[in-house]
Amino acid sequence: MLSYRHSFHAGNHADVIKHIVQSLILDALKQKDKPFVYHDTHSGVGRYDLTHEWSEKTGEYKQGIERVWQQDTIPQAIQSYLESIKVLNNGDALRYYPGSPRVARAQLRQQDRMVLTELHPADYPLLEQEFHRDRQVKIFKEDGFKRLKASLPPQERRGLVLIDPPYELAREYRDVVQAIFQSHKRWATGIYAIWYPVVNRYDIEDMIEGLAGLGIRKILQIELGVSPDTNERGMTASGMIVINPPWKLESQMKEILPFLKEAIAPATGHWKVDWIVPE
Ligand SMILES: C[S@@+](CC[C@H](N)C(=O)[O-])C[C@H]1O[C@@H](n2cnc3c(N)ncnc32)[C@H](O)[C@@H]1O
Repeated sequence: MLSYRHSFHAGNHADVIKHIVQSLILDALKQKDKPFVYHDTHSGVGRYDLTHEWSEKTGEYKQGIERVWQQDTIPQAIQSYLESIKVLNNGDALRYYPGSPRVARAQLRQQDRMVLTELHPADYPLLEQEFHRDRQVKIFKEDGFKRLKASLPPQERRGLVLIDPPYELAREYRDVVQAIFQSHKRWATGIYAIWYPVVNRYDIEDMIEGLAGLGIRKILQIELGVSPDTNERGMTASGMIVINPPWKLESQMKEILPFLKEAIAPATGHWKVDWIVPE
């Protein structure tokens, strides 16, 4: 189908929570000198211009990164995330917003590498151009789930897999569960971070039930909502489900989420950090 374009949504509240969790996991991987791999199954284009007409049309970033950017006091734990935005912009102006590949690239050391997949015929060339001749980055125009299956286990045996599909089709919630089942069999110690939108709460509950039934331990759920659940259209919350999270992630997010709620949706916001399956 491939009608989803991330340019309309870049920098929204869902990107903020996704990229903060991603950055914190990469911070934790960098605690050791040993190399790691970052594998992004649904990469997008890597960088977004917030002055582009598509961003301006929805204005979603104004209820996301712009609100965080304007805060005077910011938790120390989100420094790496903010740094990945600053390197794309000069000074304090906020024009460019990093997609997940750029968030990761800002954190990569010489010994680390990343694998990106993007299937959209218009977005793939932009992603290619963004990392042109970057020897630490390998890009595939392939189905993200298929490439993931073919890539595991990675030679480094440490790293993060980000799974961030557009959820245009109901099938994609089941595809995620299947991908985790297959990946965990091949690489049980990898860190897997699955982004999810709350549009219809039942879809998320089903996906969580599916993940909980796989017999995998250490599954953490992190969520930031901007308004209560509703039966009407539109995303009211989003979150990350992390398998094998670094040990500090739970406490870090319990500090960061109240700050994000106050910055982004003080009146109607809500958050949670809960174990779907504990250790
Ligand atoms: C939510 S966006 C990704 C955003 C990106 N991860 C970020 O955080 O900046 C989902 C992307 O997946 C791409 N896509 C859709 N189906 C795909 C598939 N089967 N394999 C790989 N990419 C796919 C879409 O074109 C879109 O760019």
